[in-house]
Amino acid sequence: MKLHNKIALITGGARGIGLGFAEAFVAEGARVIIADINIARAREAAAKIGASATAVALDVTDLESIDRVVAAIDAEHGGIDILVNNAAIFDMAPINEITPESYERVFSVNLKGPLFMMKAVSNVMIARGRGGKIINMASQAGRRGEALVTLYCASKAAIISATQSAALALVKHGIKVNAIAPGVVDGEHWDVVDAKFAEHEGLKPGEKKAAVAKSVPIGRFATPDDIKGLAVFLASPDSDYILAQTYNVDGGNWMS
Ligand SMILES: NC(=O)c1ccc[n+]([C@@H]2O[C@H](COP(=O)([O-])OP(=O)(O)OC[C@H]3O[C@@H](n4cnc5c(N)ncnc54)[C@H](O)[C@@H]3O)[C@@H](O)[C@H]2O)c1
Repeated sequence: MKLHNKIALITGGARGIGLGFAEAFVAEGARVIIADINIARAREAAAKIGASATAVALDVTDLESIDRVVAAIDAEHGGIDILVNNAAIFDMAPINEITPESYERVFSVNLKGPLFMMKAVSNVMIARGRGGKIINMASQAGRRGEALVTLYCASKAAIISATQSAALALVKHGIKVNAIAPGVVDGEHWDVVDAKFAEHEGLKPGEKKAAVAKSVPIGRFATPDDIKGLAVFLASPDSDYILAQTYNVDGGNWMS
């Protein structure tokens, strides 16, 4: 077991990719805390996984709630070994249609939340003195812009940069920070993306998804199962010499 007795905190772990990580981490021996704004869904997910998973309510845009939740987990579990900054929201608008409200919403969840999660959790890790692993969820959307996806792409490019800075600051404490950039992953997130493309491009529901699937070199969308292996690796001692990297798991979409 690669994560035996490790305490892992996963934001947005109630569904999708984060839930896949929660299941995989528990299978590798970790105790997982699913921290999600949707507490009902998080409780359902934890109950399904079993005794090694618990759910806590957390809105990553609420800095007081971050500090309170991180302190409570630290006190209850005797530290936090792994943080996955997975919670994020999608938004679609070209640059000439963005609004201050959508900017605040997207950057609060996708950048401010992960930054202050890293701050709170790394301070707990430093105080406990046993190092740790932090994984930020970036995206292929952070590798290049998209005409209709201004704010989400910018937020994901920013998390790649924040991963590098945090990794360089925290390596002296034995904390390794890396990021994962998935391509297109099937699930409720992409149902929202597909619906927004339908609205903006006058497509039928499912049409964008089918076209995108064909465009991936591997020929299909990913599932959370396709992403979880890298997350386990980056959370485990197998990756101890690796920091400040963002790895693509995207079926060949992006090559660097
Ligand atoms: N699905 C994809 O195609 C894809 C591709 C590249 C990157 N990603 C990234 O991977 C991560 C997971 O994606 P997913 O497809 O599982 O997303 P998802 O939308 O299915 O799940 C996101 C989870 O985050 C939670 N959440 C939203 N706002 C929150 C907040 N303020 N505080 C706490 N929790 C909150 C939601 O309740 C939900 O459980 C995200 O960072 C996403 O940007 C996804």
